[in-house]
Amino acid sequence: TWTMAGFRASQIRRIREQVGDGRVICGLSGGVDSSVAAVLIHEAIGEQLTCIFVDHGLLRAGEAEAVARTFRDRFNIRLVHRDASDLFLSALEGVTDPEVKRKTIGRLFIDVFDEEAHKLGGADFLAQGTLYPDVIESVSFTGGPSVTIKSHHNVGGLPERMRMRLVEPLRELFKDEVRALGRELGVPDDIVGRHPFPGPGLAIRIPGAITREKLEMLRRADAIYLEEIRSAGLYDAIWQAFAVLLPVRTVGVMGDGRTYDHACALRAVTSTDGMTADVYPFDMGFLTRVANRIVNEVRGINRVTYDITSKPPGTIEWE
Ligand code: XMP
Repeated sequence: TWTMAGFRASQIRRIREQVGDGRVICGLSGGVDSSVAAVLIHEAIGEQLTCIFVDHGLLRAGEAEAVARTFRDRFNIRLVHRDASDLFLSALEGVTDPEVKRKTIGRLFIDVFDEEAHKLGGADFLAQGTLYPDVIESVSFTGGPSVTIKSHHNVGGLPERMRMRLVEPLRELFKDEVRALGRELGVPDDIVGRHPFPGPGLAIRIPGAITREKLEMLRRADAIYLEEIRSAGLYDAIWQAFAVLLPVRTVGVMGDGRTYDHACALRAVTSTDGMTADVYPFDMGFLTRVANRIVNEVRGINRVTYDITSKPPGTIEWE
């Protein structure tokens, strides 16, 4: 019979056979897939693995520190943590088009990763947390839709440029199986159960031009929203929840003064694969509590809305 413990053991053998005494680099994002891949490969080959974490400055509050802490301190994995936020944010200055944002981030990500890989003296293998659905999706078929809705950026663009052989131990797994494998490997619950987070990060949750001030507002609003979701015990019932900072300012009243600040939208959906999604039916008491906290605690936001659009016709992210 197939068990996760058996899969773990057989993958470890396979990785050792494939890699021999070669060197492997792995791009770490802090998400479930790359985290589980890194821990599994580390268990197989230890110090032959180095992870590269490119911090594009578009992560949520505390995320970069958490990645470094988990992988370096807890798992003792060799980790290069490159803070490239200045580079990314200056390249994104004034960029408003969602696809231009994605392409700018995707291109810079590969440049920075490549640069860090060279500093390490290169490697023989590139490890990726590719899942079975990614494998199917990348197989082109005729008769399917030819319209690109969003050109997803993740580390998938790396291999062509880097001429390394791939190590992809999760290729046969679906997301829920990756989570089970992660638990089997002792990957902490907050990583294993984490909601998906897009490669371009908060850049696609700030419609219009991105500034450091807007990023800071969004981080604070998003952190409050997720804190409330967690303390209400709702996190695991939701596929993805996040705040979006809107490029519209509205009039409000605070104390006895007028405000003219940003509006923010909250999104929460249920889904099994991200392809279709339904709005999560929070009760009004929960939503008003979050709205009050955000308006009171985040300077620059004076209005909160809840996005009740399903996918289709909406998409999960706003850009
Ligand atoms: P949409 O917005 O297309 O999102 O309904 C479906 C899922 O994909 C994620 N998403 C992305 N992930 N790069 C990624 O790695 C991207 O550019 C990107 N755009 C959307 C989104 O968070 C959701 O899980």
